[in-house]
Order: sequence, then structure tokens, then C-alpha cells
Amino acid sequence: MSEQEQRLIHGQWSSRMAFILAASGSAIGLGNIWKFPYLVGENGGGAFVLIYMLCVVMLGVPIMMAETLLGRKGRRSPVNTLLNLARQAGAGRLWGQVGWLGVVAGFLILSYYSVIAGWSLAYIFKMSSGFMNQVDAEKARTAFLALQGSPELQFIWHSLFMIATVSIVSRGVNRGLEAATRYLMPLLFIMILALDLFALGSEGAGQGLSFLFKPDFSRLSGESLMIALGQAFFSLGLGMGAIMMYGSYLPDGVSITRASLIVAGADTLIALLAGVAIFPIVFTHHLAPGMGPGLIFETLPIAFGKMPAGHLFGTIFFVLVFFAAITSAIALIEPTVAWLYENRGMSRESASLWSGLACWLVGLGTIQSFSDPLHWRIGDKSLFEWLDFVTAELMLPIGGILIAVFAGWVLSAETTAGELALGSRYRLWRFAIRYLAPLGVGLILLRGVGGM
Ligand code: PFF
Repeated sequence: MSEQEQRLIHGQWSSRMAFILAASGSAIGLGNIWKFPYLVGENGGGAFVLIYMLCVVMLGVPIMMAETLLGRKGRRSPVNTLLNLARQAGAGRLWGQVGWLGVVAGFLILSYYSVIAGWSLAYIFKMSSGFMNQVDAEKARTAFLALQGSPELQFIWHSLFMIATVSIVSRGVNRGLEAATRYLMPLLFIMILALDLFALGSEGAGQGLSFLFKPDFSRLSGESLMIALGQAFFSLGLGMGAIMMYGSYLPDGVSITRASLIVAGADTLIALLAGVAIFPIVFTHHLAPGMGPGLIFETLPIAFGKMPAGHLFGTIFFVLVFFAAITSAIALIEPTVAWLYENRGMSRESASLWSGLACWLVGLGTIQSFSDPLHWRIGDKSLFEWLDFVTAELMLPIGGILIAVFAGWVLSAETTAGELALGSRYRLWRFAIRYLAPLGVGLILLRGVGGM
């Protein structure tokens, strides 16, 4: 297929900005606002944050560059991109399986992501009803547990979120998405800053900040390193072909390095600011930092309840969280959809519909595992925890290793150097992608799995 034909099928981003917006839309989502704070809380605070940031800088950024580069070279869905590039480089067809790993990971992540996004949809309405006014910790907890314990309510919100995702994805990737990210992400940033200001004025601010930023390695559990690594992949949206997908729309001549640094920087900043908003509230109200996935839903309503016009701000905040979640959901399902219409001759509409439907079905299991936690356990984890563990902590990092090996060892140095146009700093990237990333991620995985 010529580049011209490929462009007609996939469209191409109008500019570097469009790529940055789409990649940030994929990166910034529930991972930053919902997951990062509760993982920090469960894993003892500052030391976890430090390790997380090291993972982002040393492993995440080079892999993000590699993934974008592969996408731009291949200009297909991840499965076909890897197959084609492997063929051109004289490597085996097995590389296509890496694309598959990503398709499955994205699909499984979206199945539970949609349930959590459904919680934020529910909170839009809770907030706008104003019932959070002057809510205390006890009431905030009861309200959250009522939602988590209700399969019916979660069914409705999960379904609505999936319908929204499918209707956007079926219209193609360029339309609407750019505009939403361009205006709504900066707004989300401003809302989080406002929450930060509020949190910093609270009694528990000092304690919250030192929990978040003062590393205490004795609080780190054995598994924490692996969780931090998995979260870096999850939050940056790496290791499953989403960024590869977006890279395939990126015009030649745009600096992949700069784009990756901007995306990773914005993603990390939002996660940290979300932490700054939440932990002061946790300590002011003597809540447990390690309470798990309900953390933001049990803390933020207290803050909004105490703010002037809190119900308005609370409503806007959860609307923005919903948009952040939907731009990530689109990235999660896109590799599946692209594969279906490239290989199975489906139209974009039916590809989106079928993948959305299948994902929605799997999501029902997660709803059950939240509302009936005692029965939906396998070994020491609930179904939700298993899905999260297998995807974020195993599949994404393994995908990341394979992408690094492919970019560092299968593709020639001329090819990657030409794409990255890094000058003398190219050697640094090449070292990171050939040695640091595969060995670093591999060792953390081995240690995590071995020590479990
Ligand atoms: N990065 C998204 C978040 O932090 O919510 C989740 C995600 C999107 C993961 C896209 C993986 C992905 F490919």
C-alpha cells in the first residue's frame, strides 16, 4: 500500500500538536487521577513515587519514543506494523504476536476501565444534586460503598460509558478527539490546581505532602517495584500499541523526542498534582491512605463539600474526569478496531460495535467482583485485581520489553537514527532501548513474579 493510500484509510494528524494532544489524551486518564493516588496510598507514599518517576524517565520515555517511531515507520495497526517491519528487516513473523499482546491487553484494560469511568459518571450526578454539601468522611464513604455494592447502578453507568466510547470510535480518530483534548485537558489541569490550593490550606497538608514526597523505603512492600513499573506503563499508555497507533498518523519530520517528553511530562505532572490534592484531605480526616480503589471517590467529595460553589466545581471536575477517561478508552480499543477493519474487512462502525460489545460483556465480571467481592475471588485477588495485575503489571511491561528489543535489535541503527534525528544524543537512546529497558523491565518483572 502506498503512503498516499494509507493516508486515505487512516487519515493523518494535521500537525505535531495534534499528535501531542492525542497521545496526551491517551496518557492522561483514570490512571493519573484515580489509580496513581490509590497505588501511592497502598504502597507507602514517597518511596513509591520516587521509583515511579525513575521508571517513567529511564524506561518509559525511551520506550515511548520507540513505540512512536515504530508506528510512524509502519503506518498500520500495531499487528500489521510489526509484521511489515519485521518482514522488511528479515525477522520472523512471530513479531506480529507482539501486536496481538497489545490488542488483548487494551481490550482487557478497557473492560474494567469502563466500570471505573462509570463511577465518575455517577459522581457527576451525585455532585450536581448537591448532596455532597458539607458531607463528612462517614457520609462520603457510605455513598461510595452504596455505588460499589450495586450491580444495577454500575451496570447502567458502565453501559453508558461503553456506548459513548463506541459512538466516538466508530466515527474515526481525527474528528472531535483533538478538540476535546485541546480544551478539556487544560481545564482539568486548572481544576486539579484549584483542588491543590484547597488541600494545601487544610490541617493535614504537611502530613499529606510528606507522605507523598518524603521517601521512606521501609514502607515499600516487596511487590511495590513491580506495581510502580506497571503503573508507569499504564499511565503513559505504553506497551500495547496505542502510542504506536497514534505514531502511525504522525507526519514525517516531527520530533518524536520532543513530543514524547511533552506527553510524559504532562502525564506525570497531572498524577503528582492529583496526589497533592488527595493526601492532605486523607490526613485531615484521619482516613486510611491504603483504602484502595475508592480513594478519590471517598476523599474529593469532602473537599468539594467544603468549597464555596462546591457542587458546581465538583460537577465540572467529574465531567472532566469523564472526558479524560474517554480519550484513554478510545486509545485502548483502537488497536482492536484497527485490526478488525484492516484484516477482517469490517467497516469501522461494525468493528467498533463488536469490540465495544465484547468489552462491555467482560466488564460485567468486574462489576460483579466489586459488588460481591466474597464470591468473585480467585486465590488472593478479586477478578478486577487479577485483570489489573495481568494487564498492567505483566502484559504492558512485557509488551514494552518486546518493543524495545524490536526497535533496538531488529531495526537497524540507520533506520532508527534517521527517524529520531537526535544527533549525538542518539547513542544515549540506543543504549537505553537495547540494554537499559529490556534488562531493567525484565529484572523488575522477574523479581516481582519470583517474590510473589
Ligand atoms: N493511560 C491511561 C490512563 O492513565 O488512564 C490508560 C491507558 C490508555 C493505558 C491507553 C494504556 C493505553 F494504551
